[in-house]
Amino acid sequence: MLRTIDQAGDLRGKRVILRVDFNVPLNQGQISDDGRIRAALPTIKLLLEAGAKLVIASHLGRPEGRDDGFSLSPVAARLSELLETKVAFVSETVGELVSQAVASLSDGQALILENLRFNSGEASKDANAREAFARELAALGDVLVSDGFGVSHRKQASVYELAKILPSFAGLLIQAELNILQTLTENPDRPYTVVLGGSKVSDKLGVIQNLLPKVDRLLIGGGMLFTFLASQGLKVGKSLLEADQLDRVGGFFDEAARLGVEIVLPTDVVVANRFAADAEYEVVRSSAIEESRFGSEAIGLDIGPAAAEHFAAMIRSSRTVFWNGPMGVFEFDNFANGTKVVAEALSLVEGISVVGGGDSAAAVRKLGFSENAYSHISTGGGASLEFLEGKSLPGLEVLND
Ligand code: 3PG
Repeated sequence: MLRTIDQAGDLRGKRVILRVDFNVPLNQGQISDDGRIRAALPTIKLLLEAGAKLVIASHLGRPEGRDDGFSLSPVAARLSELLETKVAFVSETVGELVSQAVASLSDGQALILENLRFNSGEASKDANAREAFARELAALGDVLVSDGFGVSHRKQASVYELAKILPSFAGLLIQAELNILQTLTENPDRPYTVVLGGSKVSDKLGVIQNLLPKVDRLLIGGGMLFTFLASQGLKVGKSLLEADQLDRVGGFFDEAARLGVEIVLPTDVVVANRFAADAEYEVVRSSAIEESRFGSEAIGLDIGPAAAEHFAAMIRSSRTVFWNGPMGVFEFDNFANGTKVVAEALSLVEGISVVGGGDSAAAVRKLGFSENAYSHISTGGGASLEFLEGKSLPGLEVLND
């Protein structure tokens, strides 16, 4: 059983370390998508209202040691705006400066530490180094509330070892994420459709394997689509291709046929002469990519309009839909249609619609869809995929009795 924040007792005056996942995209020092910060607000508010002295901790990016380009300082500023109260930023992760700042917190006040990955102990492969850092962090708090769902698949000091040292409880976001992901794996309403995209098929193999027996239809788009097409003997020009996965991907079709599951590939695609926003492009049948005017140089950058409409109809007629990964290069306007149509169809589902993390969540927001139109937008990219793969996530496992 997951230990949850409501079991943490009276937190007034207690120093609570809150591990969140504020790994947000930064563009020249500006946060381009604050979804992960907003997703942590319910737990933060709950703890502040409970009178905790709140020490917020997160990683950002994958810095190798201290690197100001990955500072959490812009996040502290954004969090202060969202909470409409000042959240102090401490420019270290542990040590004297941090201890003093924590000691000066009043009940119901928060501070945020610098990027935990500036300390090499956080993500070290060496369990002793992680444990040493976790002990330094533990000295700053009485209780740990773990709410960084997006990082729960990482065995890292603040996610795993720290939770073994301090009394530790799952926050509201982790609970919400688990509730919804569990409905996707246990007894979903049918028809159940999973839409997968994104560039790398190798990232999705586990999830496909685990979900195939559970779904009714699997719709495939994004860069990974071309490995699926190639596995069916089609030519894909210069599109993304993971040649070493062709057999595995081809095997999914046999498996799907055996299970009575439909794997749906787009009937048309948008191909271009190069990977660029202003590339020349053309819509072609998926079976005729090299017959486009770009010949064997054609690069597939989106699913085609007919495929997008077909996908949309299948999504809208489903009772449960999980979507992970854009259908095309949505950052470029000419190749955003597939992602847009799929995002809109999901927003119209009468049932459960879940957008799974990372790029698809960013796409929904960038393309201007209301977050409220979906049952859930996950803050976990890799974490939700690993959960759906049926893997055990160390950061959750450690919160279980
Ligand atoms: C994520 O963005 O998926 C999480 O924050 C984990 O980040 P990582 O892949 O750098 O560990």
